[in-house]
Amino acid sequence: MGKRKRRVTLAVLLAAGMMLLLLRGMAFVTFGQEEEATVPEIPGITVDDVHVNGCVDCHRKADPEKDYRISTNLRELAEKGKHPNVEDSIKTIPGDCLTCHSESAAKMMGTEPLASMLHRFHLLGGEENHFITNDRGQCTHCHALNKDTGEFSIKSGKEQ
Ligand code: HEC
Ligand code: HEC
Ligand code: HEC
Repeated sequence: MGKRKRRVTLAVLLAAGMMLLLLRGMAFVTFGQEEEATVPEIPGITVDDVHVNGCVDCHRKADPEKDYRISTNLRELAEKGKHPNVEDSIKTIPGDCLTCHSESAAKMMGTEPLASMLHRFHLLGGEENHFITNDRGQCTHCHALNKDTGEFSIKSGKEQ
């Protein structure tokens, strides 16, 4: 290849490269302009809250094979010696769990605080975790926003 020919090829390549960059830039700008603002669906904030009682609205007995109740889970743990028997002391969930799993009770009794335990169960594991895939990992399934004051509280309710 002659020196001149090589220079021409180089110039053509450079020009083509610039064009590509330019086109990509334009495509990006148009895309940015056309993209509409989307409102995320956050229960109790941007969409209706269908789990107003928190835990107990999800952890139910769906059918005889699928018993997701927390009481059932704890009874199984108790049978394996991994949990004290709390059958008679739990009326509302998670309200009554806090007797032994609040931050201060946890320190005294050597239990795990409910907050870190539940955040771990529901918010870790990415796509392996059904709370993230099915329930979109939303904080407001358990935490309720008071729309007048902006305060957060923990939903609590009786198991069905
Ligand atoms: C919107 C539905 C939803 C709400 C509300 C919810 N959970 Fe869960 N919870 C799930 C799902 C789904 C899983 C299974 C996560 C996974 O795939 O590992 C789970 C897992 C758990 C586990 C782990 C043991 C098990 O049964 O698999 C415990 C314990 C638990 N939840 C307790 C609670 C408590 C206590 C609350 C309330 C403070 C609560 N959950 C609120 C859906 C929910
Ligand atoms: C009377 C006190 C008490 C109450 C009430 C209580 N717990 Fe516990 N919980 C414990 C103790 C103690 C342990 C630790 C057991 C151990 O490690 O041997 C524990 C451990 C656990 C564990 C871990 C079990 C494991 O796999 O090792 C889970 C999950 C749990 N509690 C959930 C709950 C939930 C949900 C509630 C409310 C519905 C609740 N607990 C109410 C005392 C209590
Ligand atoms: C499965 C139910 C559940 C979900 C989902 C959940 N929380 Fe919590 N959270 C709780 C409970 C129960 C407590 C403890 C209440 C107590 O100890 O009085 C708590 C406590 C907290 C606290 C105060 C204690 C701490 O750990 O510092 C913060 C902050 C918090 N949550 C933030 C969040 C955020 C942010 C999200 C979403 C990314 C979220 N939570 C999702 C149940 C949940």
